[in-house]
Amino acid sequence: MDTKIIQISKDDIDIQNLEVAAKFLRDGELVAFPTETVYGLGANALSQDAVSRIFEAKGRPSDNPLIVHLASVNDIDTVATDISDMARKLIKAFSPGPFTIILKKKDTVAKSVTAGLDTVAVRVPENPIAHKLIELSNVPIAAPSANISGKPSPTKAKHVIEDMNDKIACILDGGECEVGLESTVVDATGKMPIVLRPGGITVTQIRQIVPSAIIDSHILESITSSEKPKSPGMKYKHYAPNADVTVVEGGFDAVFENICRMLKEIHGKKTGVLAMNNRKYNADVVLDAGKNNEEYAHSLFTKLREFDEMGIDIVFAEFCVDDDYGLAVKNRLYKSAGNKIVRV
Ligand code: TXA
Ligand code: MG
Repeated sequence: MDTKIIQISKDDIDIQNLEVAAKFLRDGELVAFPTETVYGLGANALSQDAVSRIFEAKGRPSDNPLIVHLASVNDIDTVATDISDMARKLIKAFSPGPFTIILKKKDTVAKSVTAGLDTVAVRVPENPIAHKLIELSNVPIAAPSANISGKPSPTKAKHVIEDMNDKIACILDGGECEVGLESTVVDATGKMPIVLRPGGITVTQIRQIVPSAIIDSHILESITSSEKPKSPGMKYKHYAPNADVTVVEGGFDAVFENICRMLKEIHGKKTGVLAMNNRKYNADVVLDAGKNNEEYAHSLFTKLREFDEMGIDIVFAEFCVDDDYGLAVKNRLYKSAGNKIVRV
């Protein structure tokens, strides 16, 4: 299939161009589009056929449900029911934005979207291109991240082209995503909110609205854990570049010393380091992770893909600042490393 690539500026949206993409969605085709978190791969969430194309294009296991994206918080009642006051408070505080809420689903949503669960994940993106596209398409849009299953999520249209060219009808190139990591996923179907995936909205921010919010124990656990996770996506390999990644976690000095030592022990392989504050290492390639976890989050997936472009075999990724925002970075790092973590 010939993929139509359309440039679109979020500061000056060309509605006619966007309408081309919206028509593809109405016709049951797939459209990749920017959101403030990562690029999404969208399909009409009311059409079983359209949604099945997402699973095919990504190579995604069919038991991993998708997020339904809406143009407005007022539309949430069209896909979800039994919404508690606690859930409404969270929606009011964080939507539109990098926030996804799990609610009881309505039967209008295609079964394959929710992978047979009786709950649905709902998100109202803030990015004006995403917002306008969903509004024009006039249907709820099911969208996972627009990468091949298991790869780092796309934060630039170029990444989507790498993974999806010739497989989908259209890619909207709206520039780089601001947050760089996926939305925070919160299950609001019970008494207390449960954070299933950390992201752009931190746990502290959530607790400011609902103090009883808890963090699901799987967030930093092994992907091979045998217990059934609440969010099916937790059990799959994720965010993994071709390079073999090891996370080195601890204080700045100890992390530096240990990475230097491990680099010395490697022979005959191309090495890379993902380092904060542009710190220098004696490796084939050193990429900058930024000076705080917001910057790390913003660049993480891009840098992982860059190591692959440069043919790096082994990557050491620093993790030195264990703060509130860092939980989301750490969660993605652990997964991209397949849980190879050195704590120093
Ligand atoms: O920022 C984002 O959330 C991006 C953009 C495109 O919106 N989307 C995204 O989708 O990251 P995806 O499919 O890559 O991740 C969705 C996560 C998965 O871990 C999935 O298992 C979980 O949400 N999920 C979806 N529906 C669920 C449900 N009903 N109950 C529990 N977890 C659910
Ligand atoms: Mg994903």
